[in-house]
Amino acid sequence: MDKGQLESTARALVAPGKGILAADESFGTIGKRFKAVGIESTEDTRRRYRQMLFTTPGIGEFLSGVILFDETIRQKADDGRPLPRVLEDQGVIPGIKVDKSTTALPLSPQEKFTQGLDGLRERLEEYRGMGARFTKWRAVITIGEGIPTERCIGANAHGLALFAAFSQEAGLVPIVEPEVLIDGDHTIERCYEVTEWTLNRTFDYIYEMGVELSGMLLKPNMVISGKDCPEQAGVEEVARMTVECLKRSVPAAVPGIVFLSGGQSDIQATAHLNAMNRLYDDLPWELSFSYARALQGRPMEIWKGDDANVEAAQKAFYHRAKMNSAARSGSYSE
Ligand code: 13P
Repeated sequence: MDKGQLESTARALVAPGKGILAADESFGTIGKRFKAVGIESTEDTRRRYRQMLFTTPGIGEFLSGVILFDETIRQKADDGRPLPRVLEDQGVIPGIKVDKSTTALPLSPQEKFTQGLDGLRERLEEYRGMGARFTKWRAVITIGEGIPTERCIGANAHGLALFAAFSQEAGLVPIVEPEVLIDGDHTIERCYEVTEWTLNRTFDYIYEMGVELSGMLLKPNMVISGKDCPEQAGVEEVARMTVECLKRSVPAAVPGIVFLSGGQSDIQATAHLNAMNRLYDDLPWELSFSYARALQGRPMEIWKGDDANVEAAQKAFYHRAKMNSAARSGSYSE
């Protein structure tokens, strides 16, 4: 393992003023998002949509990296350049989602387990050859009646740690994503408790697996009220509870924490990140973003599958990326 190279990639991904675009939606997820705004999901619409995002002029000022899906890393822009090359030409580092999505946890059908370890070593080698320099694996923890269970958290934490070890062996920086879902009517306190539990179990296994902390990034949820909780915590409370939770669970040697947006509105996701960076200036890790929905929501609605809308969609995408870039230093105002 080349620790120096892994750390320098991890640090580049959380460089000041820059964050990550997650554009790694699986066929099912992109299909659902397209359908909601009236776009048919075909190989070509998916290609043209991602091309629209990646060719946005000047986007490299605000984005350090983009997470791709298996189909996307193999696709080409209209001018013949492979899409990972389009990103490199913008000064953006290409990454790849390598998990194979979730299945019901055996004997606990309300919970999920993330698959994808079989054949991972070979797939990582192929992706590296295609230009990927970092990887992502998402595990999902659901809050509900009697859940999550220790075995769900343990099984997923173990998978995340193995994924991280395989990635570092291949010279790729792992983004470890244990997502505690926003779905449900639970309080922010319950979200705090489950997030702290999940992160501590994840770092137990990361330690056991020999993963180098300085050569990885963590992608957690923010600590936030459940979507259907009658009492919704305000921006400062979310910021403080999130950072206090992370202080109690994330080792200081991890270079950066890149949040997922997880169903928050785009404005909320920016405001929360901004508040954390404004309220705290003595944290060991960079606090940044790795958003999908909070960056793509508006541009997707505007694009609608019609190339006549490319410029307007790119403008909306550029604006959102710029606002999140400002939130990196706590200097955002809409
Ligand atoms: P959201 O920002 O839409 O939560 O997506 C982030 C992601 O990459 C989920 O795996």
